[in-house]
Amino acid sequence: KPMRLWGGRFESGPSDALARLSVSVHFDWRLVPYDLAASRAHARVLHRAGLLSDEELDRMIGALDDLERACKAGEFRPTVADEDVHTALERGLLERLGSLGGKLRAGRSRNDQIATDLRLYLRDHARSVVSRLVELETALMAQAEQHADTAAPGMTHLQHAQPVSFGHQLLAHVHAFARDVDRLTDWDKRAAISPLGSGALAGSSLPLDPQAVAEELGFSAAAPNSMDAVADRDFAAEFLFDAAMIGVHLSRLGEEIVLWASQEFRWIEMDDAYSTGSSIMPQKKNPDVAELARGKSGRLIGNLMSLLTTLKGLPLTYNRDLQEDKEPVFDAVDTLLLVLPAMAGLVATMRINTARMEASAPDGFALATDLAELLVRRGVPFREAHEAVGHLVVWCQVNDKDLGELSDDELVKVSPHLTPDVRDVLSVPGALAARKAYGGTAPDRVRDQLVALRESVDAQ
Ligand code: ARG
Repeated sequence: KPMRLWGGRFESGPSDALARLSVSVHFDWRLVPYDLAASRAHARVLHRAGLLSDEELDRMIGALDDLERACKAGEFRPTVADEDVHTALERGLLERLGSLGGKLRAGRSRNDQIATDLRLYLRDHARSVVSRLVELETALMAQAEQHADTAAPGMTHLQHAQPVSFGHQLLAHVHAFARDVDRLTDWDKRAAISPLGSGALAGSSLPLDPQAVAEELGFSAAAPNSMDAVADRDFAAEFLFDAAMIGVHLSRLGEEIVLWASQEFRWIEMDDAYSTGSSIMPQKKNPDVAELARGKSGRLIGNLMSLLTTLKGLPLTYNRDLQEDKEPVFDAVDTLLLVLPAMAGLVATMRINTARMEASAPDGFALATDLAELLVRRGVPFREAHEAVGHLVVWCQVNDKDLGELSDDELVKVSPHLTPDVRDVLSVPGALAARKAYGGTAPDRVRDQLVALRESVDAQ
């Protein structure tokens, strides 16, 4: 007869259809270490409350330790009859302890257990995600350091706008990922609340000590409201937002890498280890890593939507709908832990085609703003300067010339301020170096950013 945690008041067992609908052990099995940690803490609290003798506590902890070992070794596995991870583990405990195993459930419900397990799991895995983010940031920063002085065409609307340091562009991505790291560390403060002790919804009449349990499990405090504790999944939704945001950042970087690797850009060459071939076209080298990063952001966003939709309109407190919280959360963690190392490897190993990038940096009259700003320094209102340089650009287009190739006459005809020495500002390195105020693309400012970013990353 399959063991259930709720058989007493039922005459028949569940129908096959209900059993199949209800089962979650195929995905919540990964919570085993967290469920067992919470069980050990609960056992100690029952002992302190006088509900377990010294000897019973020893046997209980021994059995939980042995169960953990057996799960790790694959000796203890869930069966088709185990509804969820809690059911399976109670079976394991009863197999080891007989009726003593049944004492651990006192004062505890699967409702506070599952909320606790999921928080423990997520806090643990958020730390892994942060580590992988830091590795990606480190790879981007190493490239940025090499290319602080490399000029690239900076774009808006995917059109040449103004030259930038390629390192500056790479660090722009690092800032985005650094905010993701910040978000996850800040999220942890709110996630660090222990639901254990809340029972099904109202707390327990037994003299438990939720604060002691919270402390033993590494939480900062016990939940101040038992109803909120078992109903709240904000911590999961907020994590999924952070994961979706990381996904969006990965997809934007991924899209840039797809462009950079294209024949039209040819800014980078991907390492063989991080690119793929075609089954028909022998010459192909495809940016699949970047495309999968871009593609998998879809499921990260979907996971957030999925959970928010599940939560919307749920009355307090626990409802079985909440069982649907876990698969999106697990999928988000798995996805990030897959994508982040691949993107870090792709970035770390890509070779930058410096010559091509620099050669195209001034294309599309990208230094026109520098000319207009020079006129401003000579007292011309920007509105007029903008107009004058606009005329120059049209003149250049019609005559197939670059701004720097205009004759003295051609310049001065457009504005008396366009004396021959204006050609001095028409250099890409000059344009970069001139943007030297805080936050600008000057290579020296890029190096300052690197120092500051490395300090904050080292503080992680
Ligand atoms: N497996 C459930 C979940 O994932 C926990 C069990 C609570 N079940 C219940 N009938 N109260 O949320």
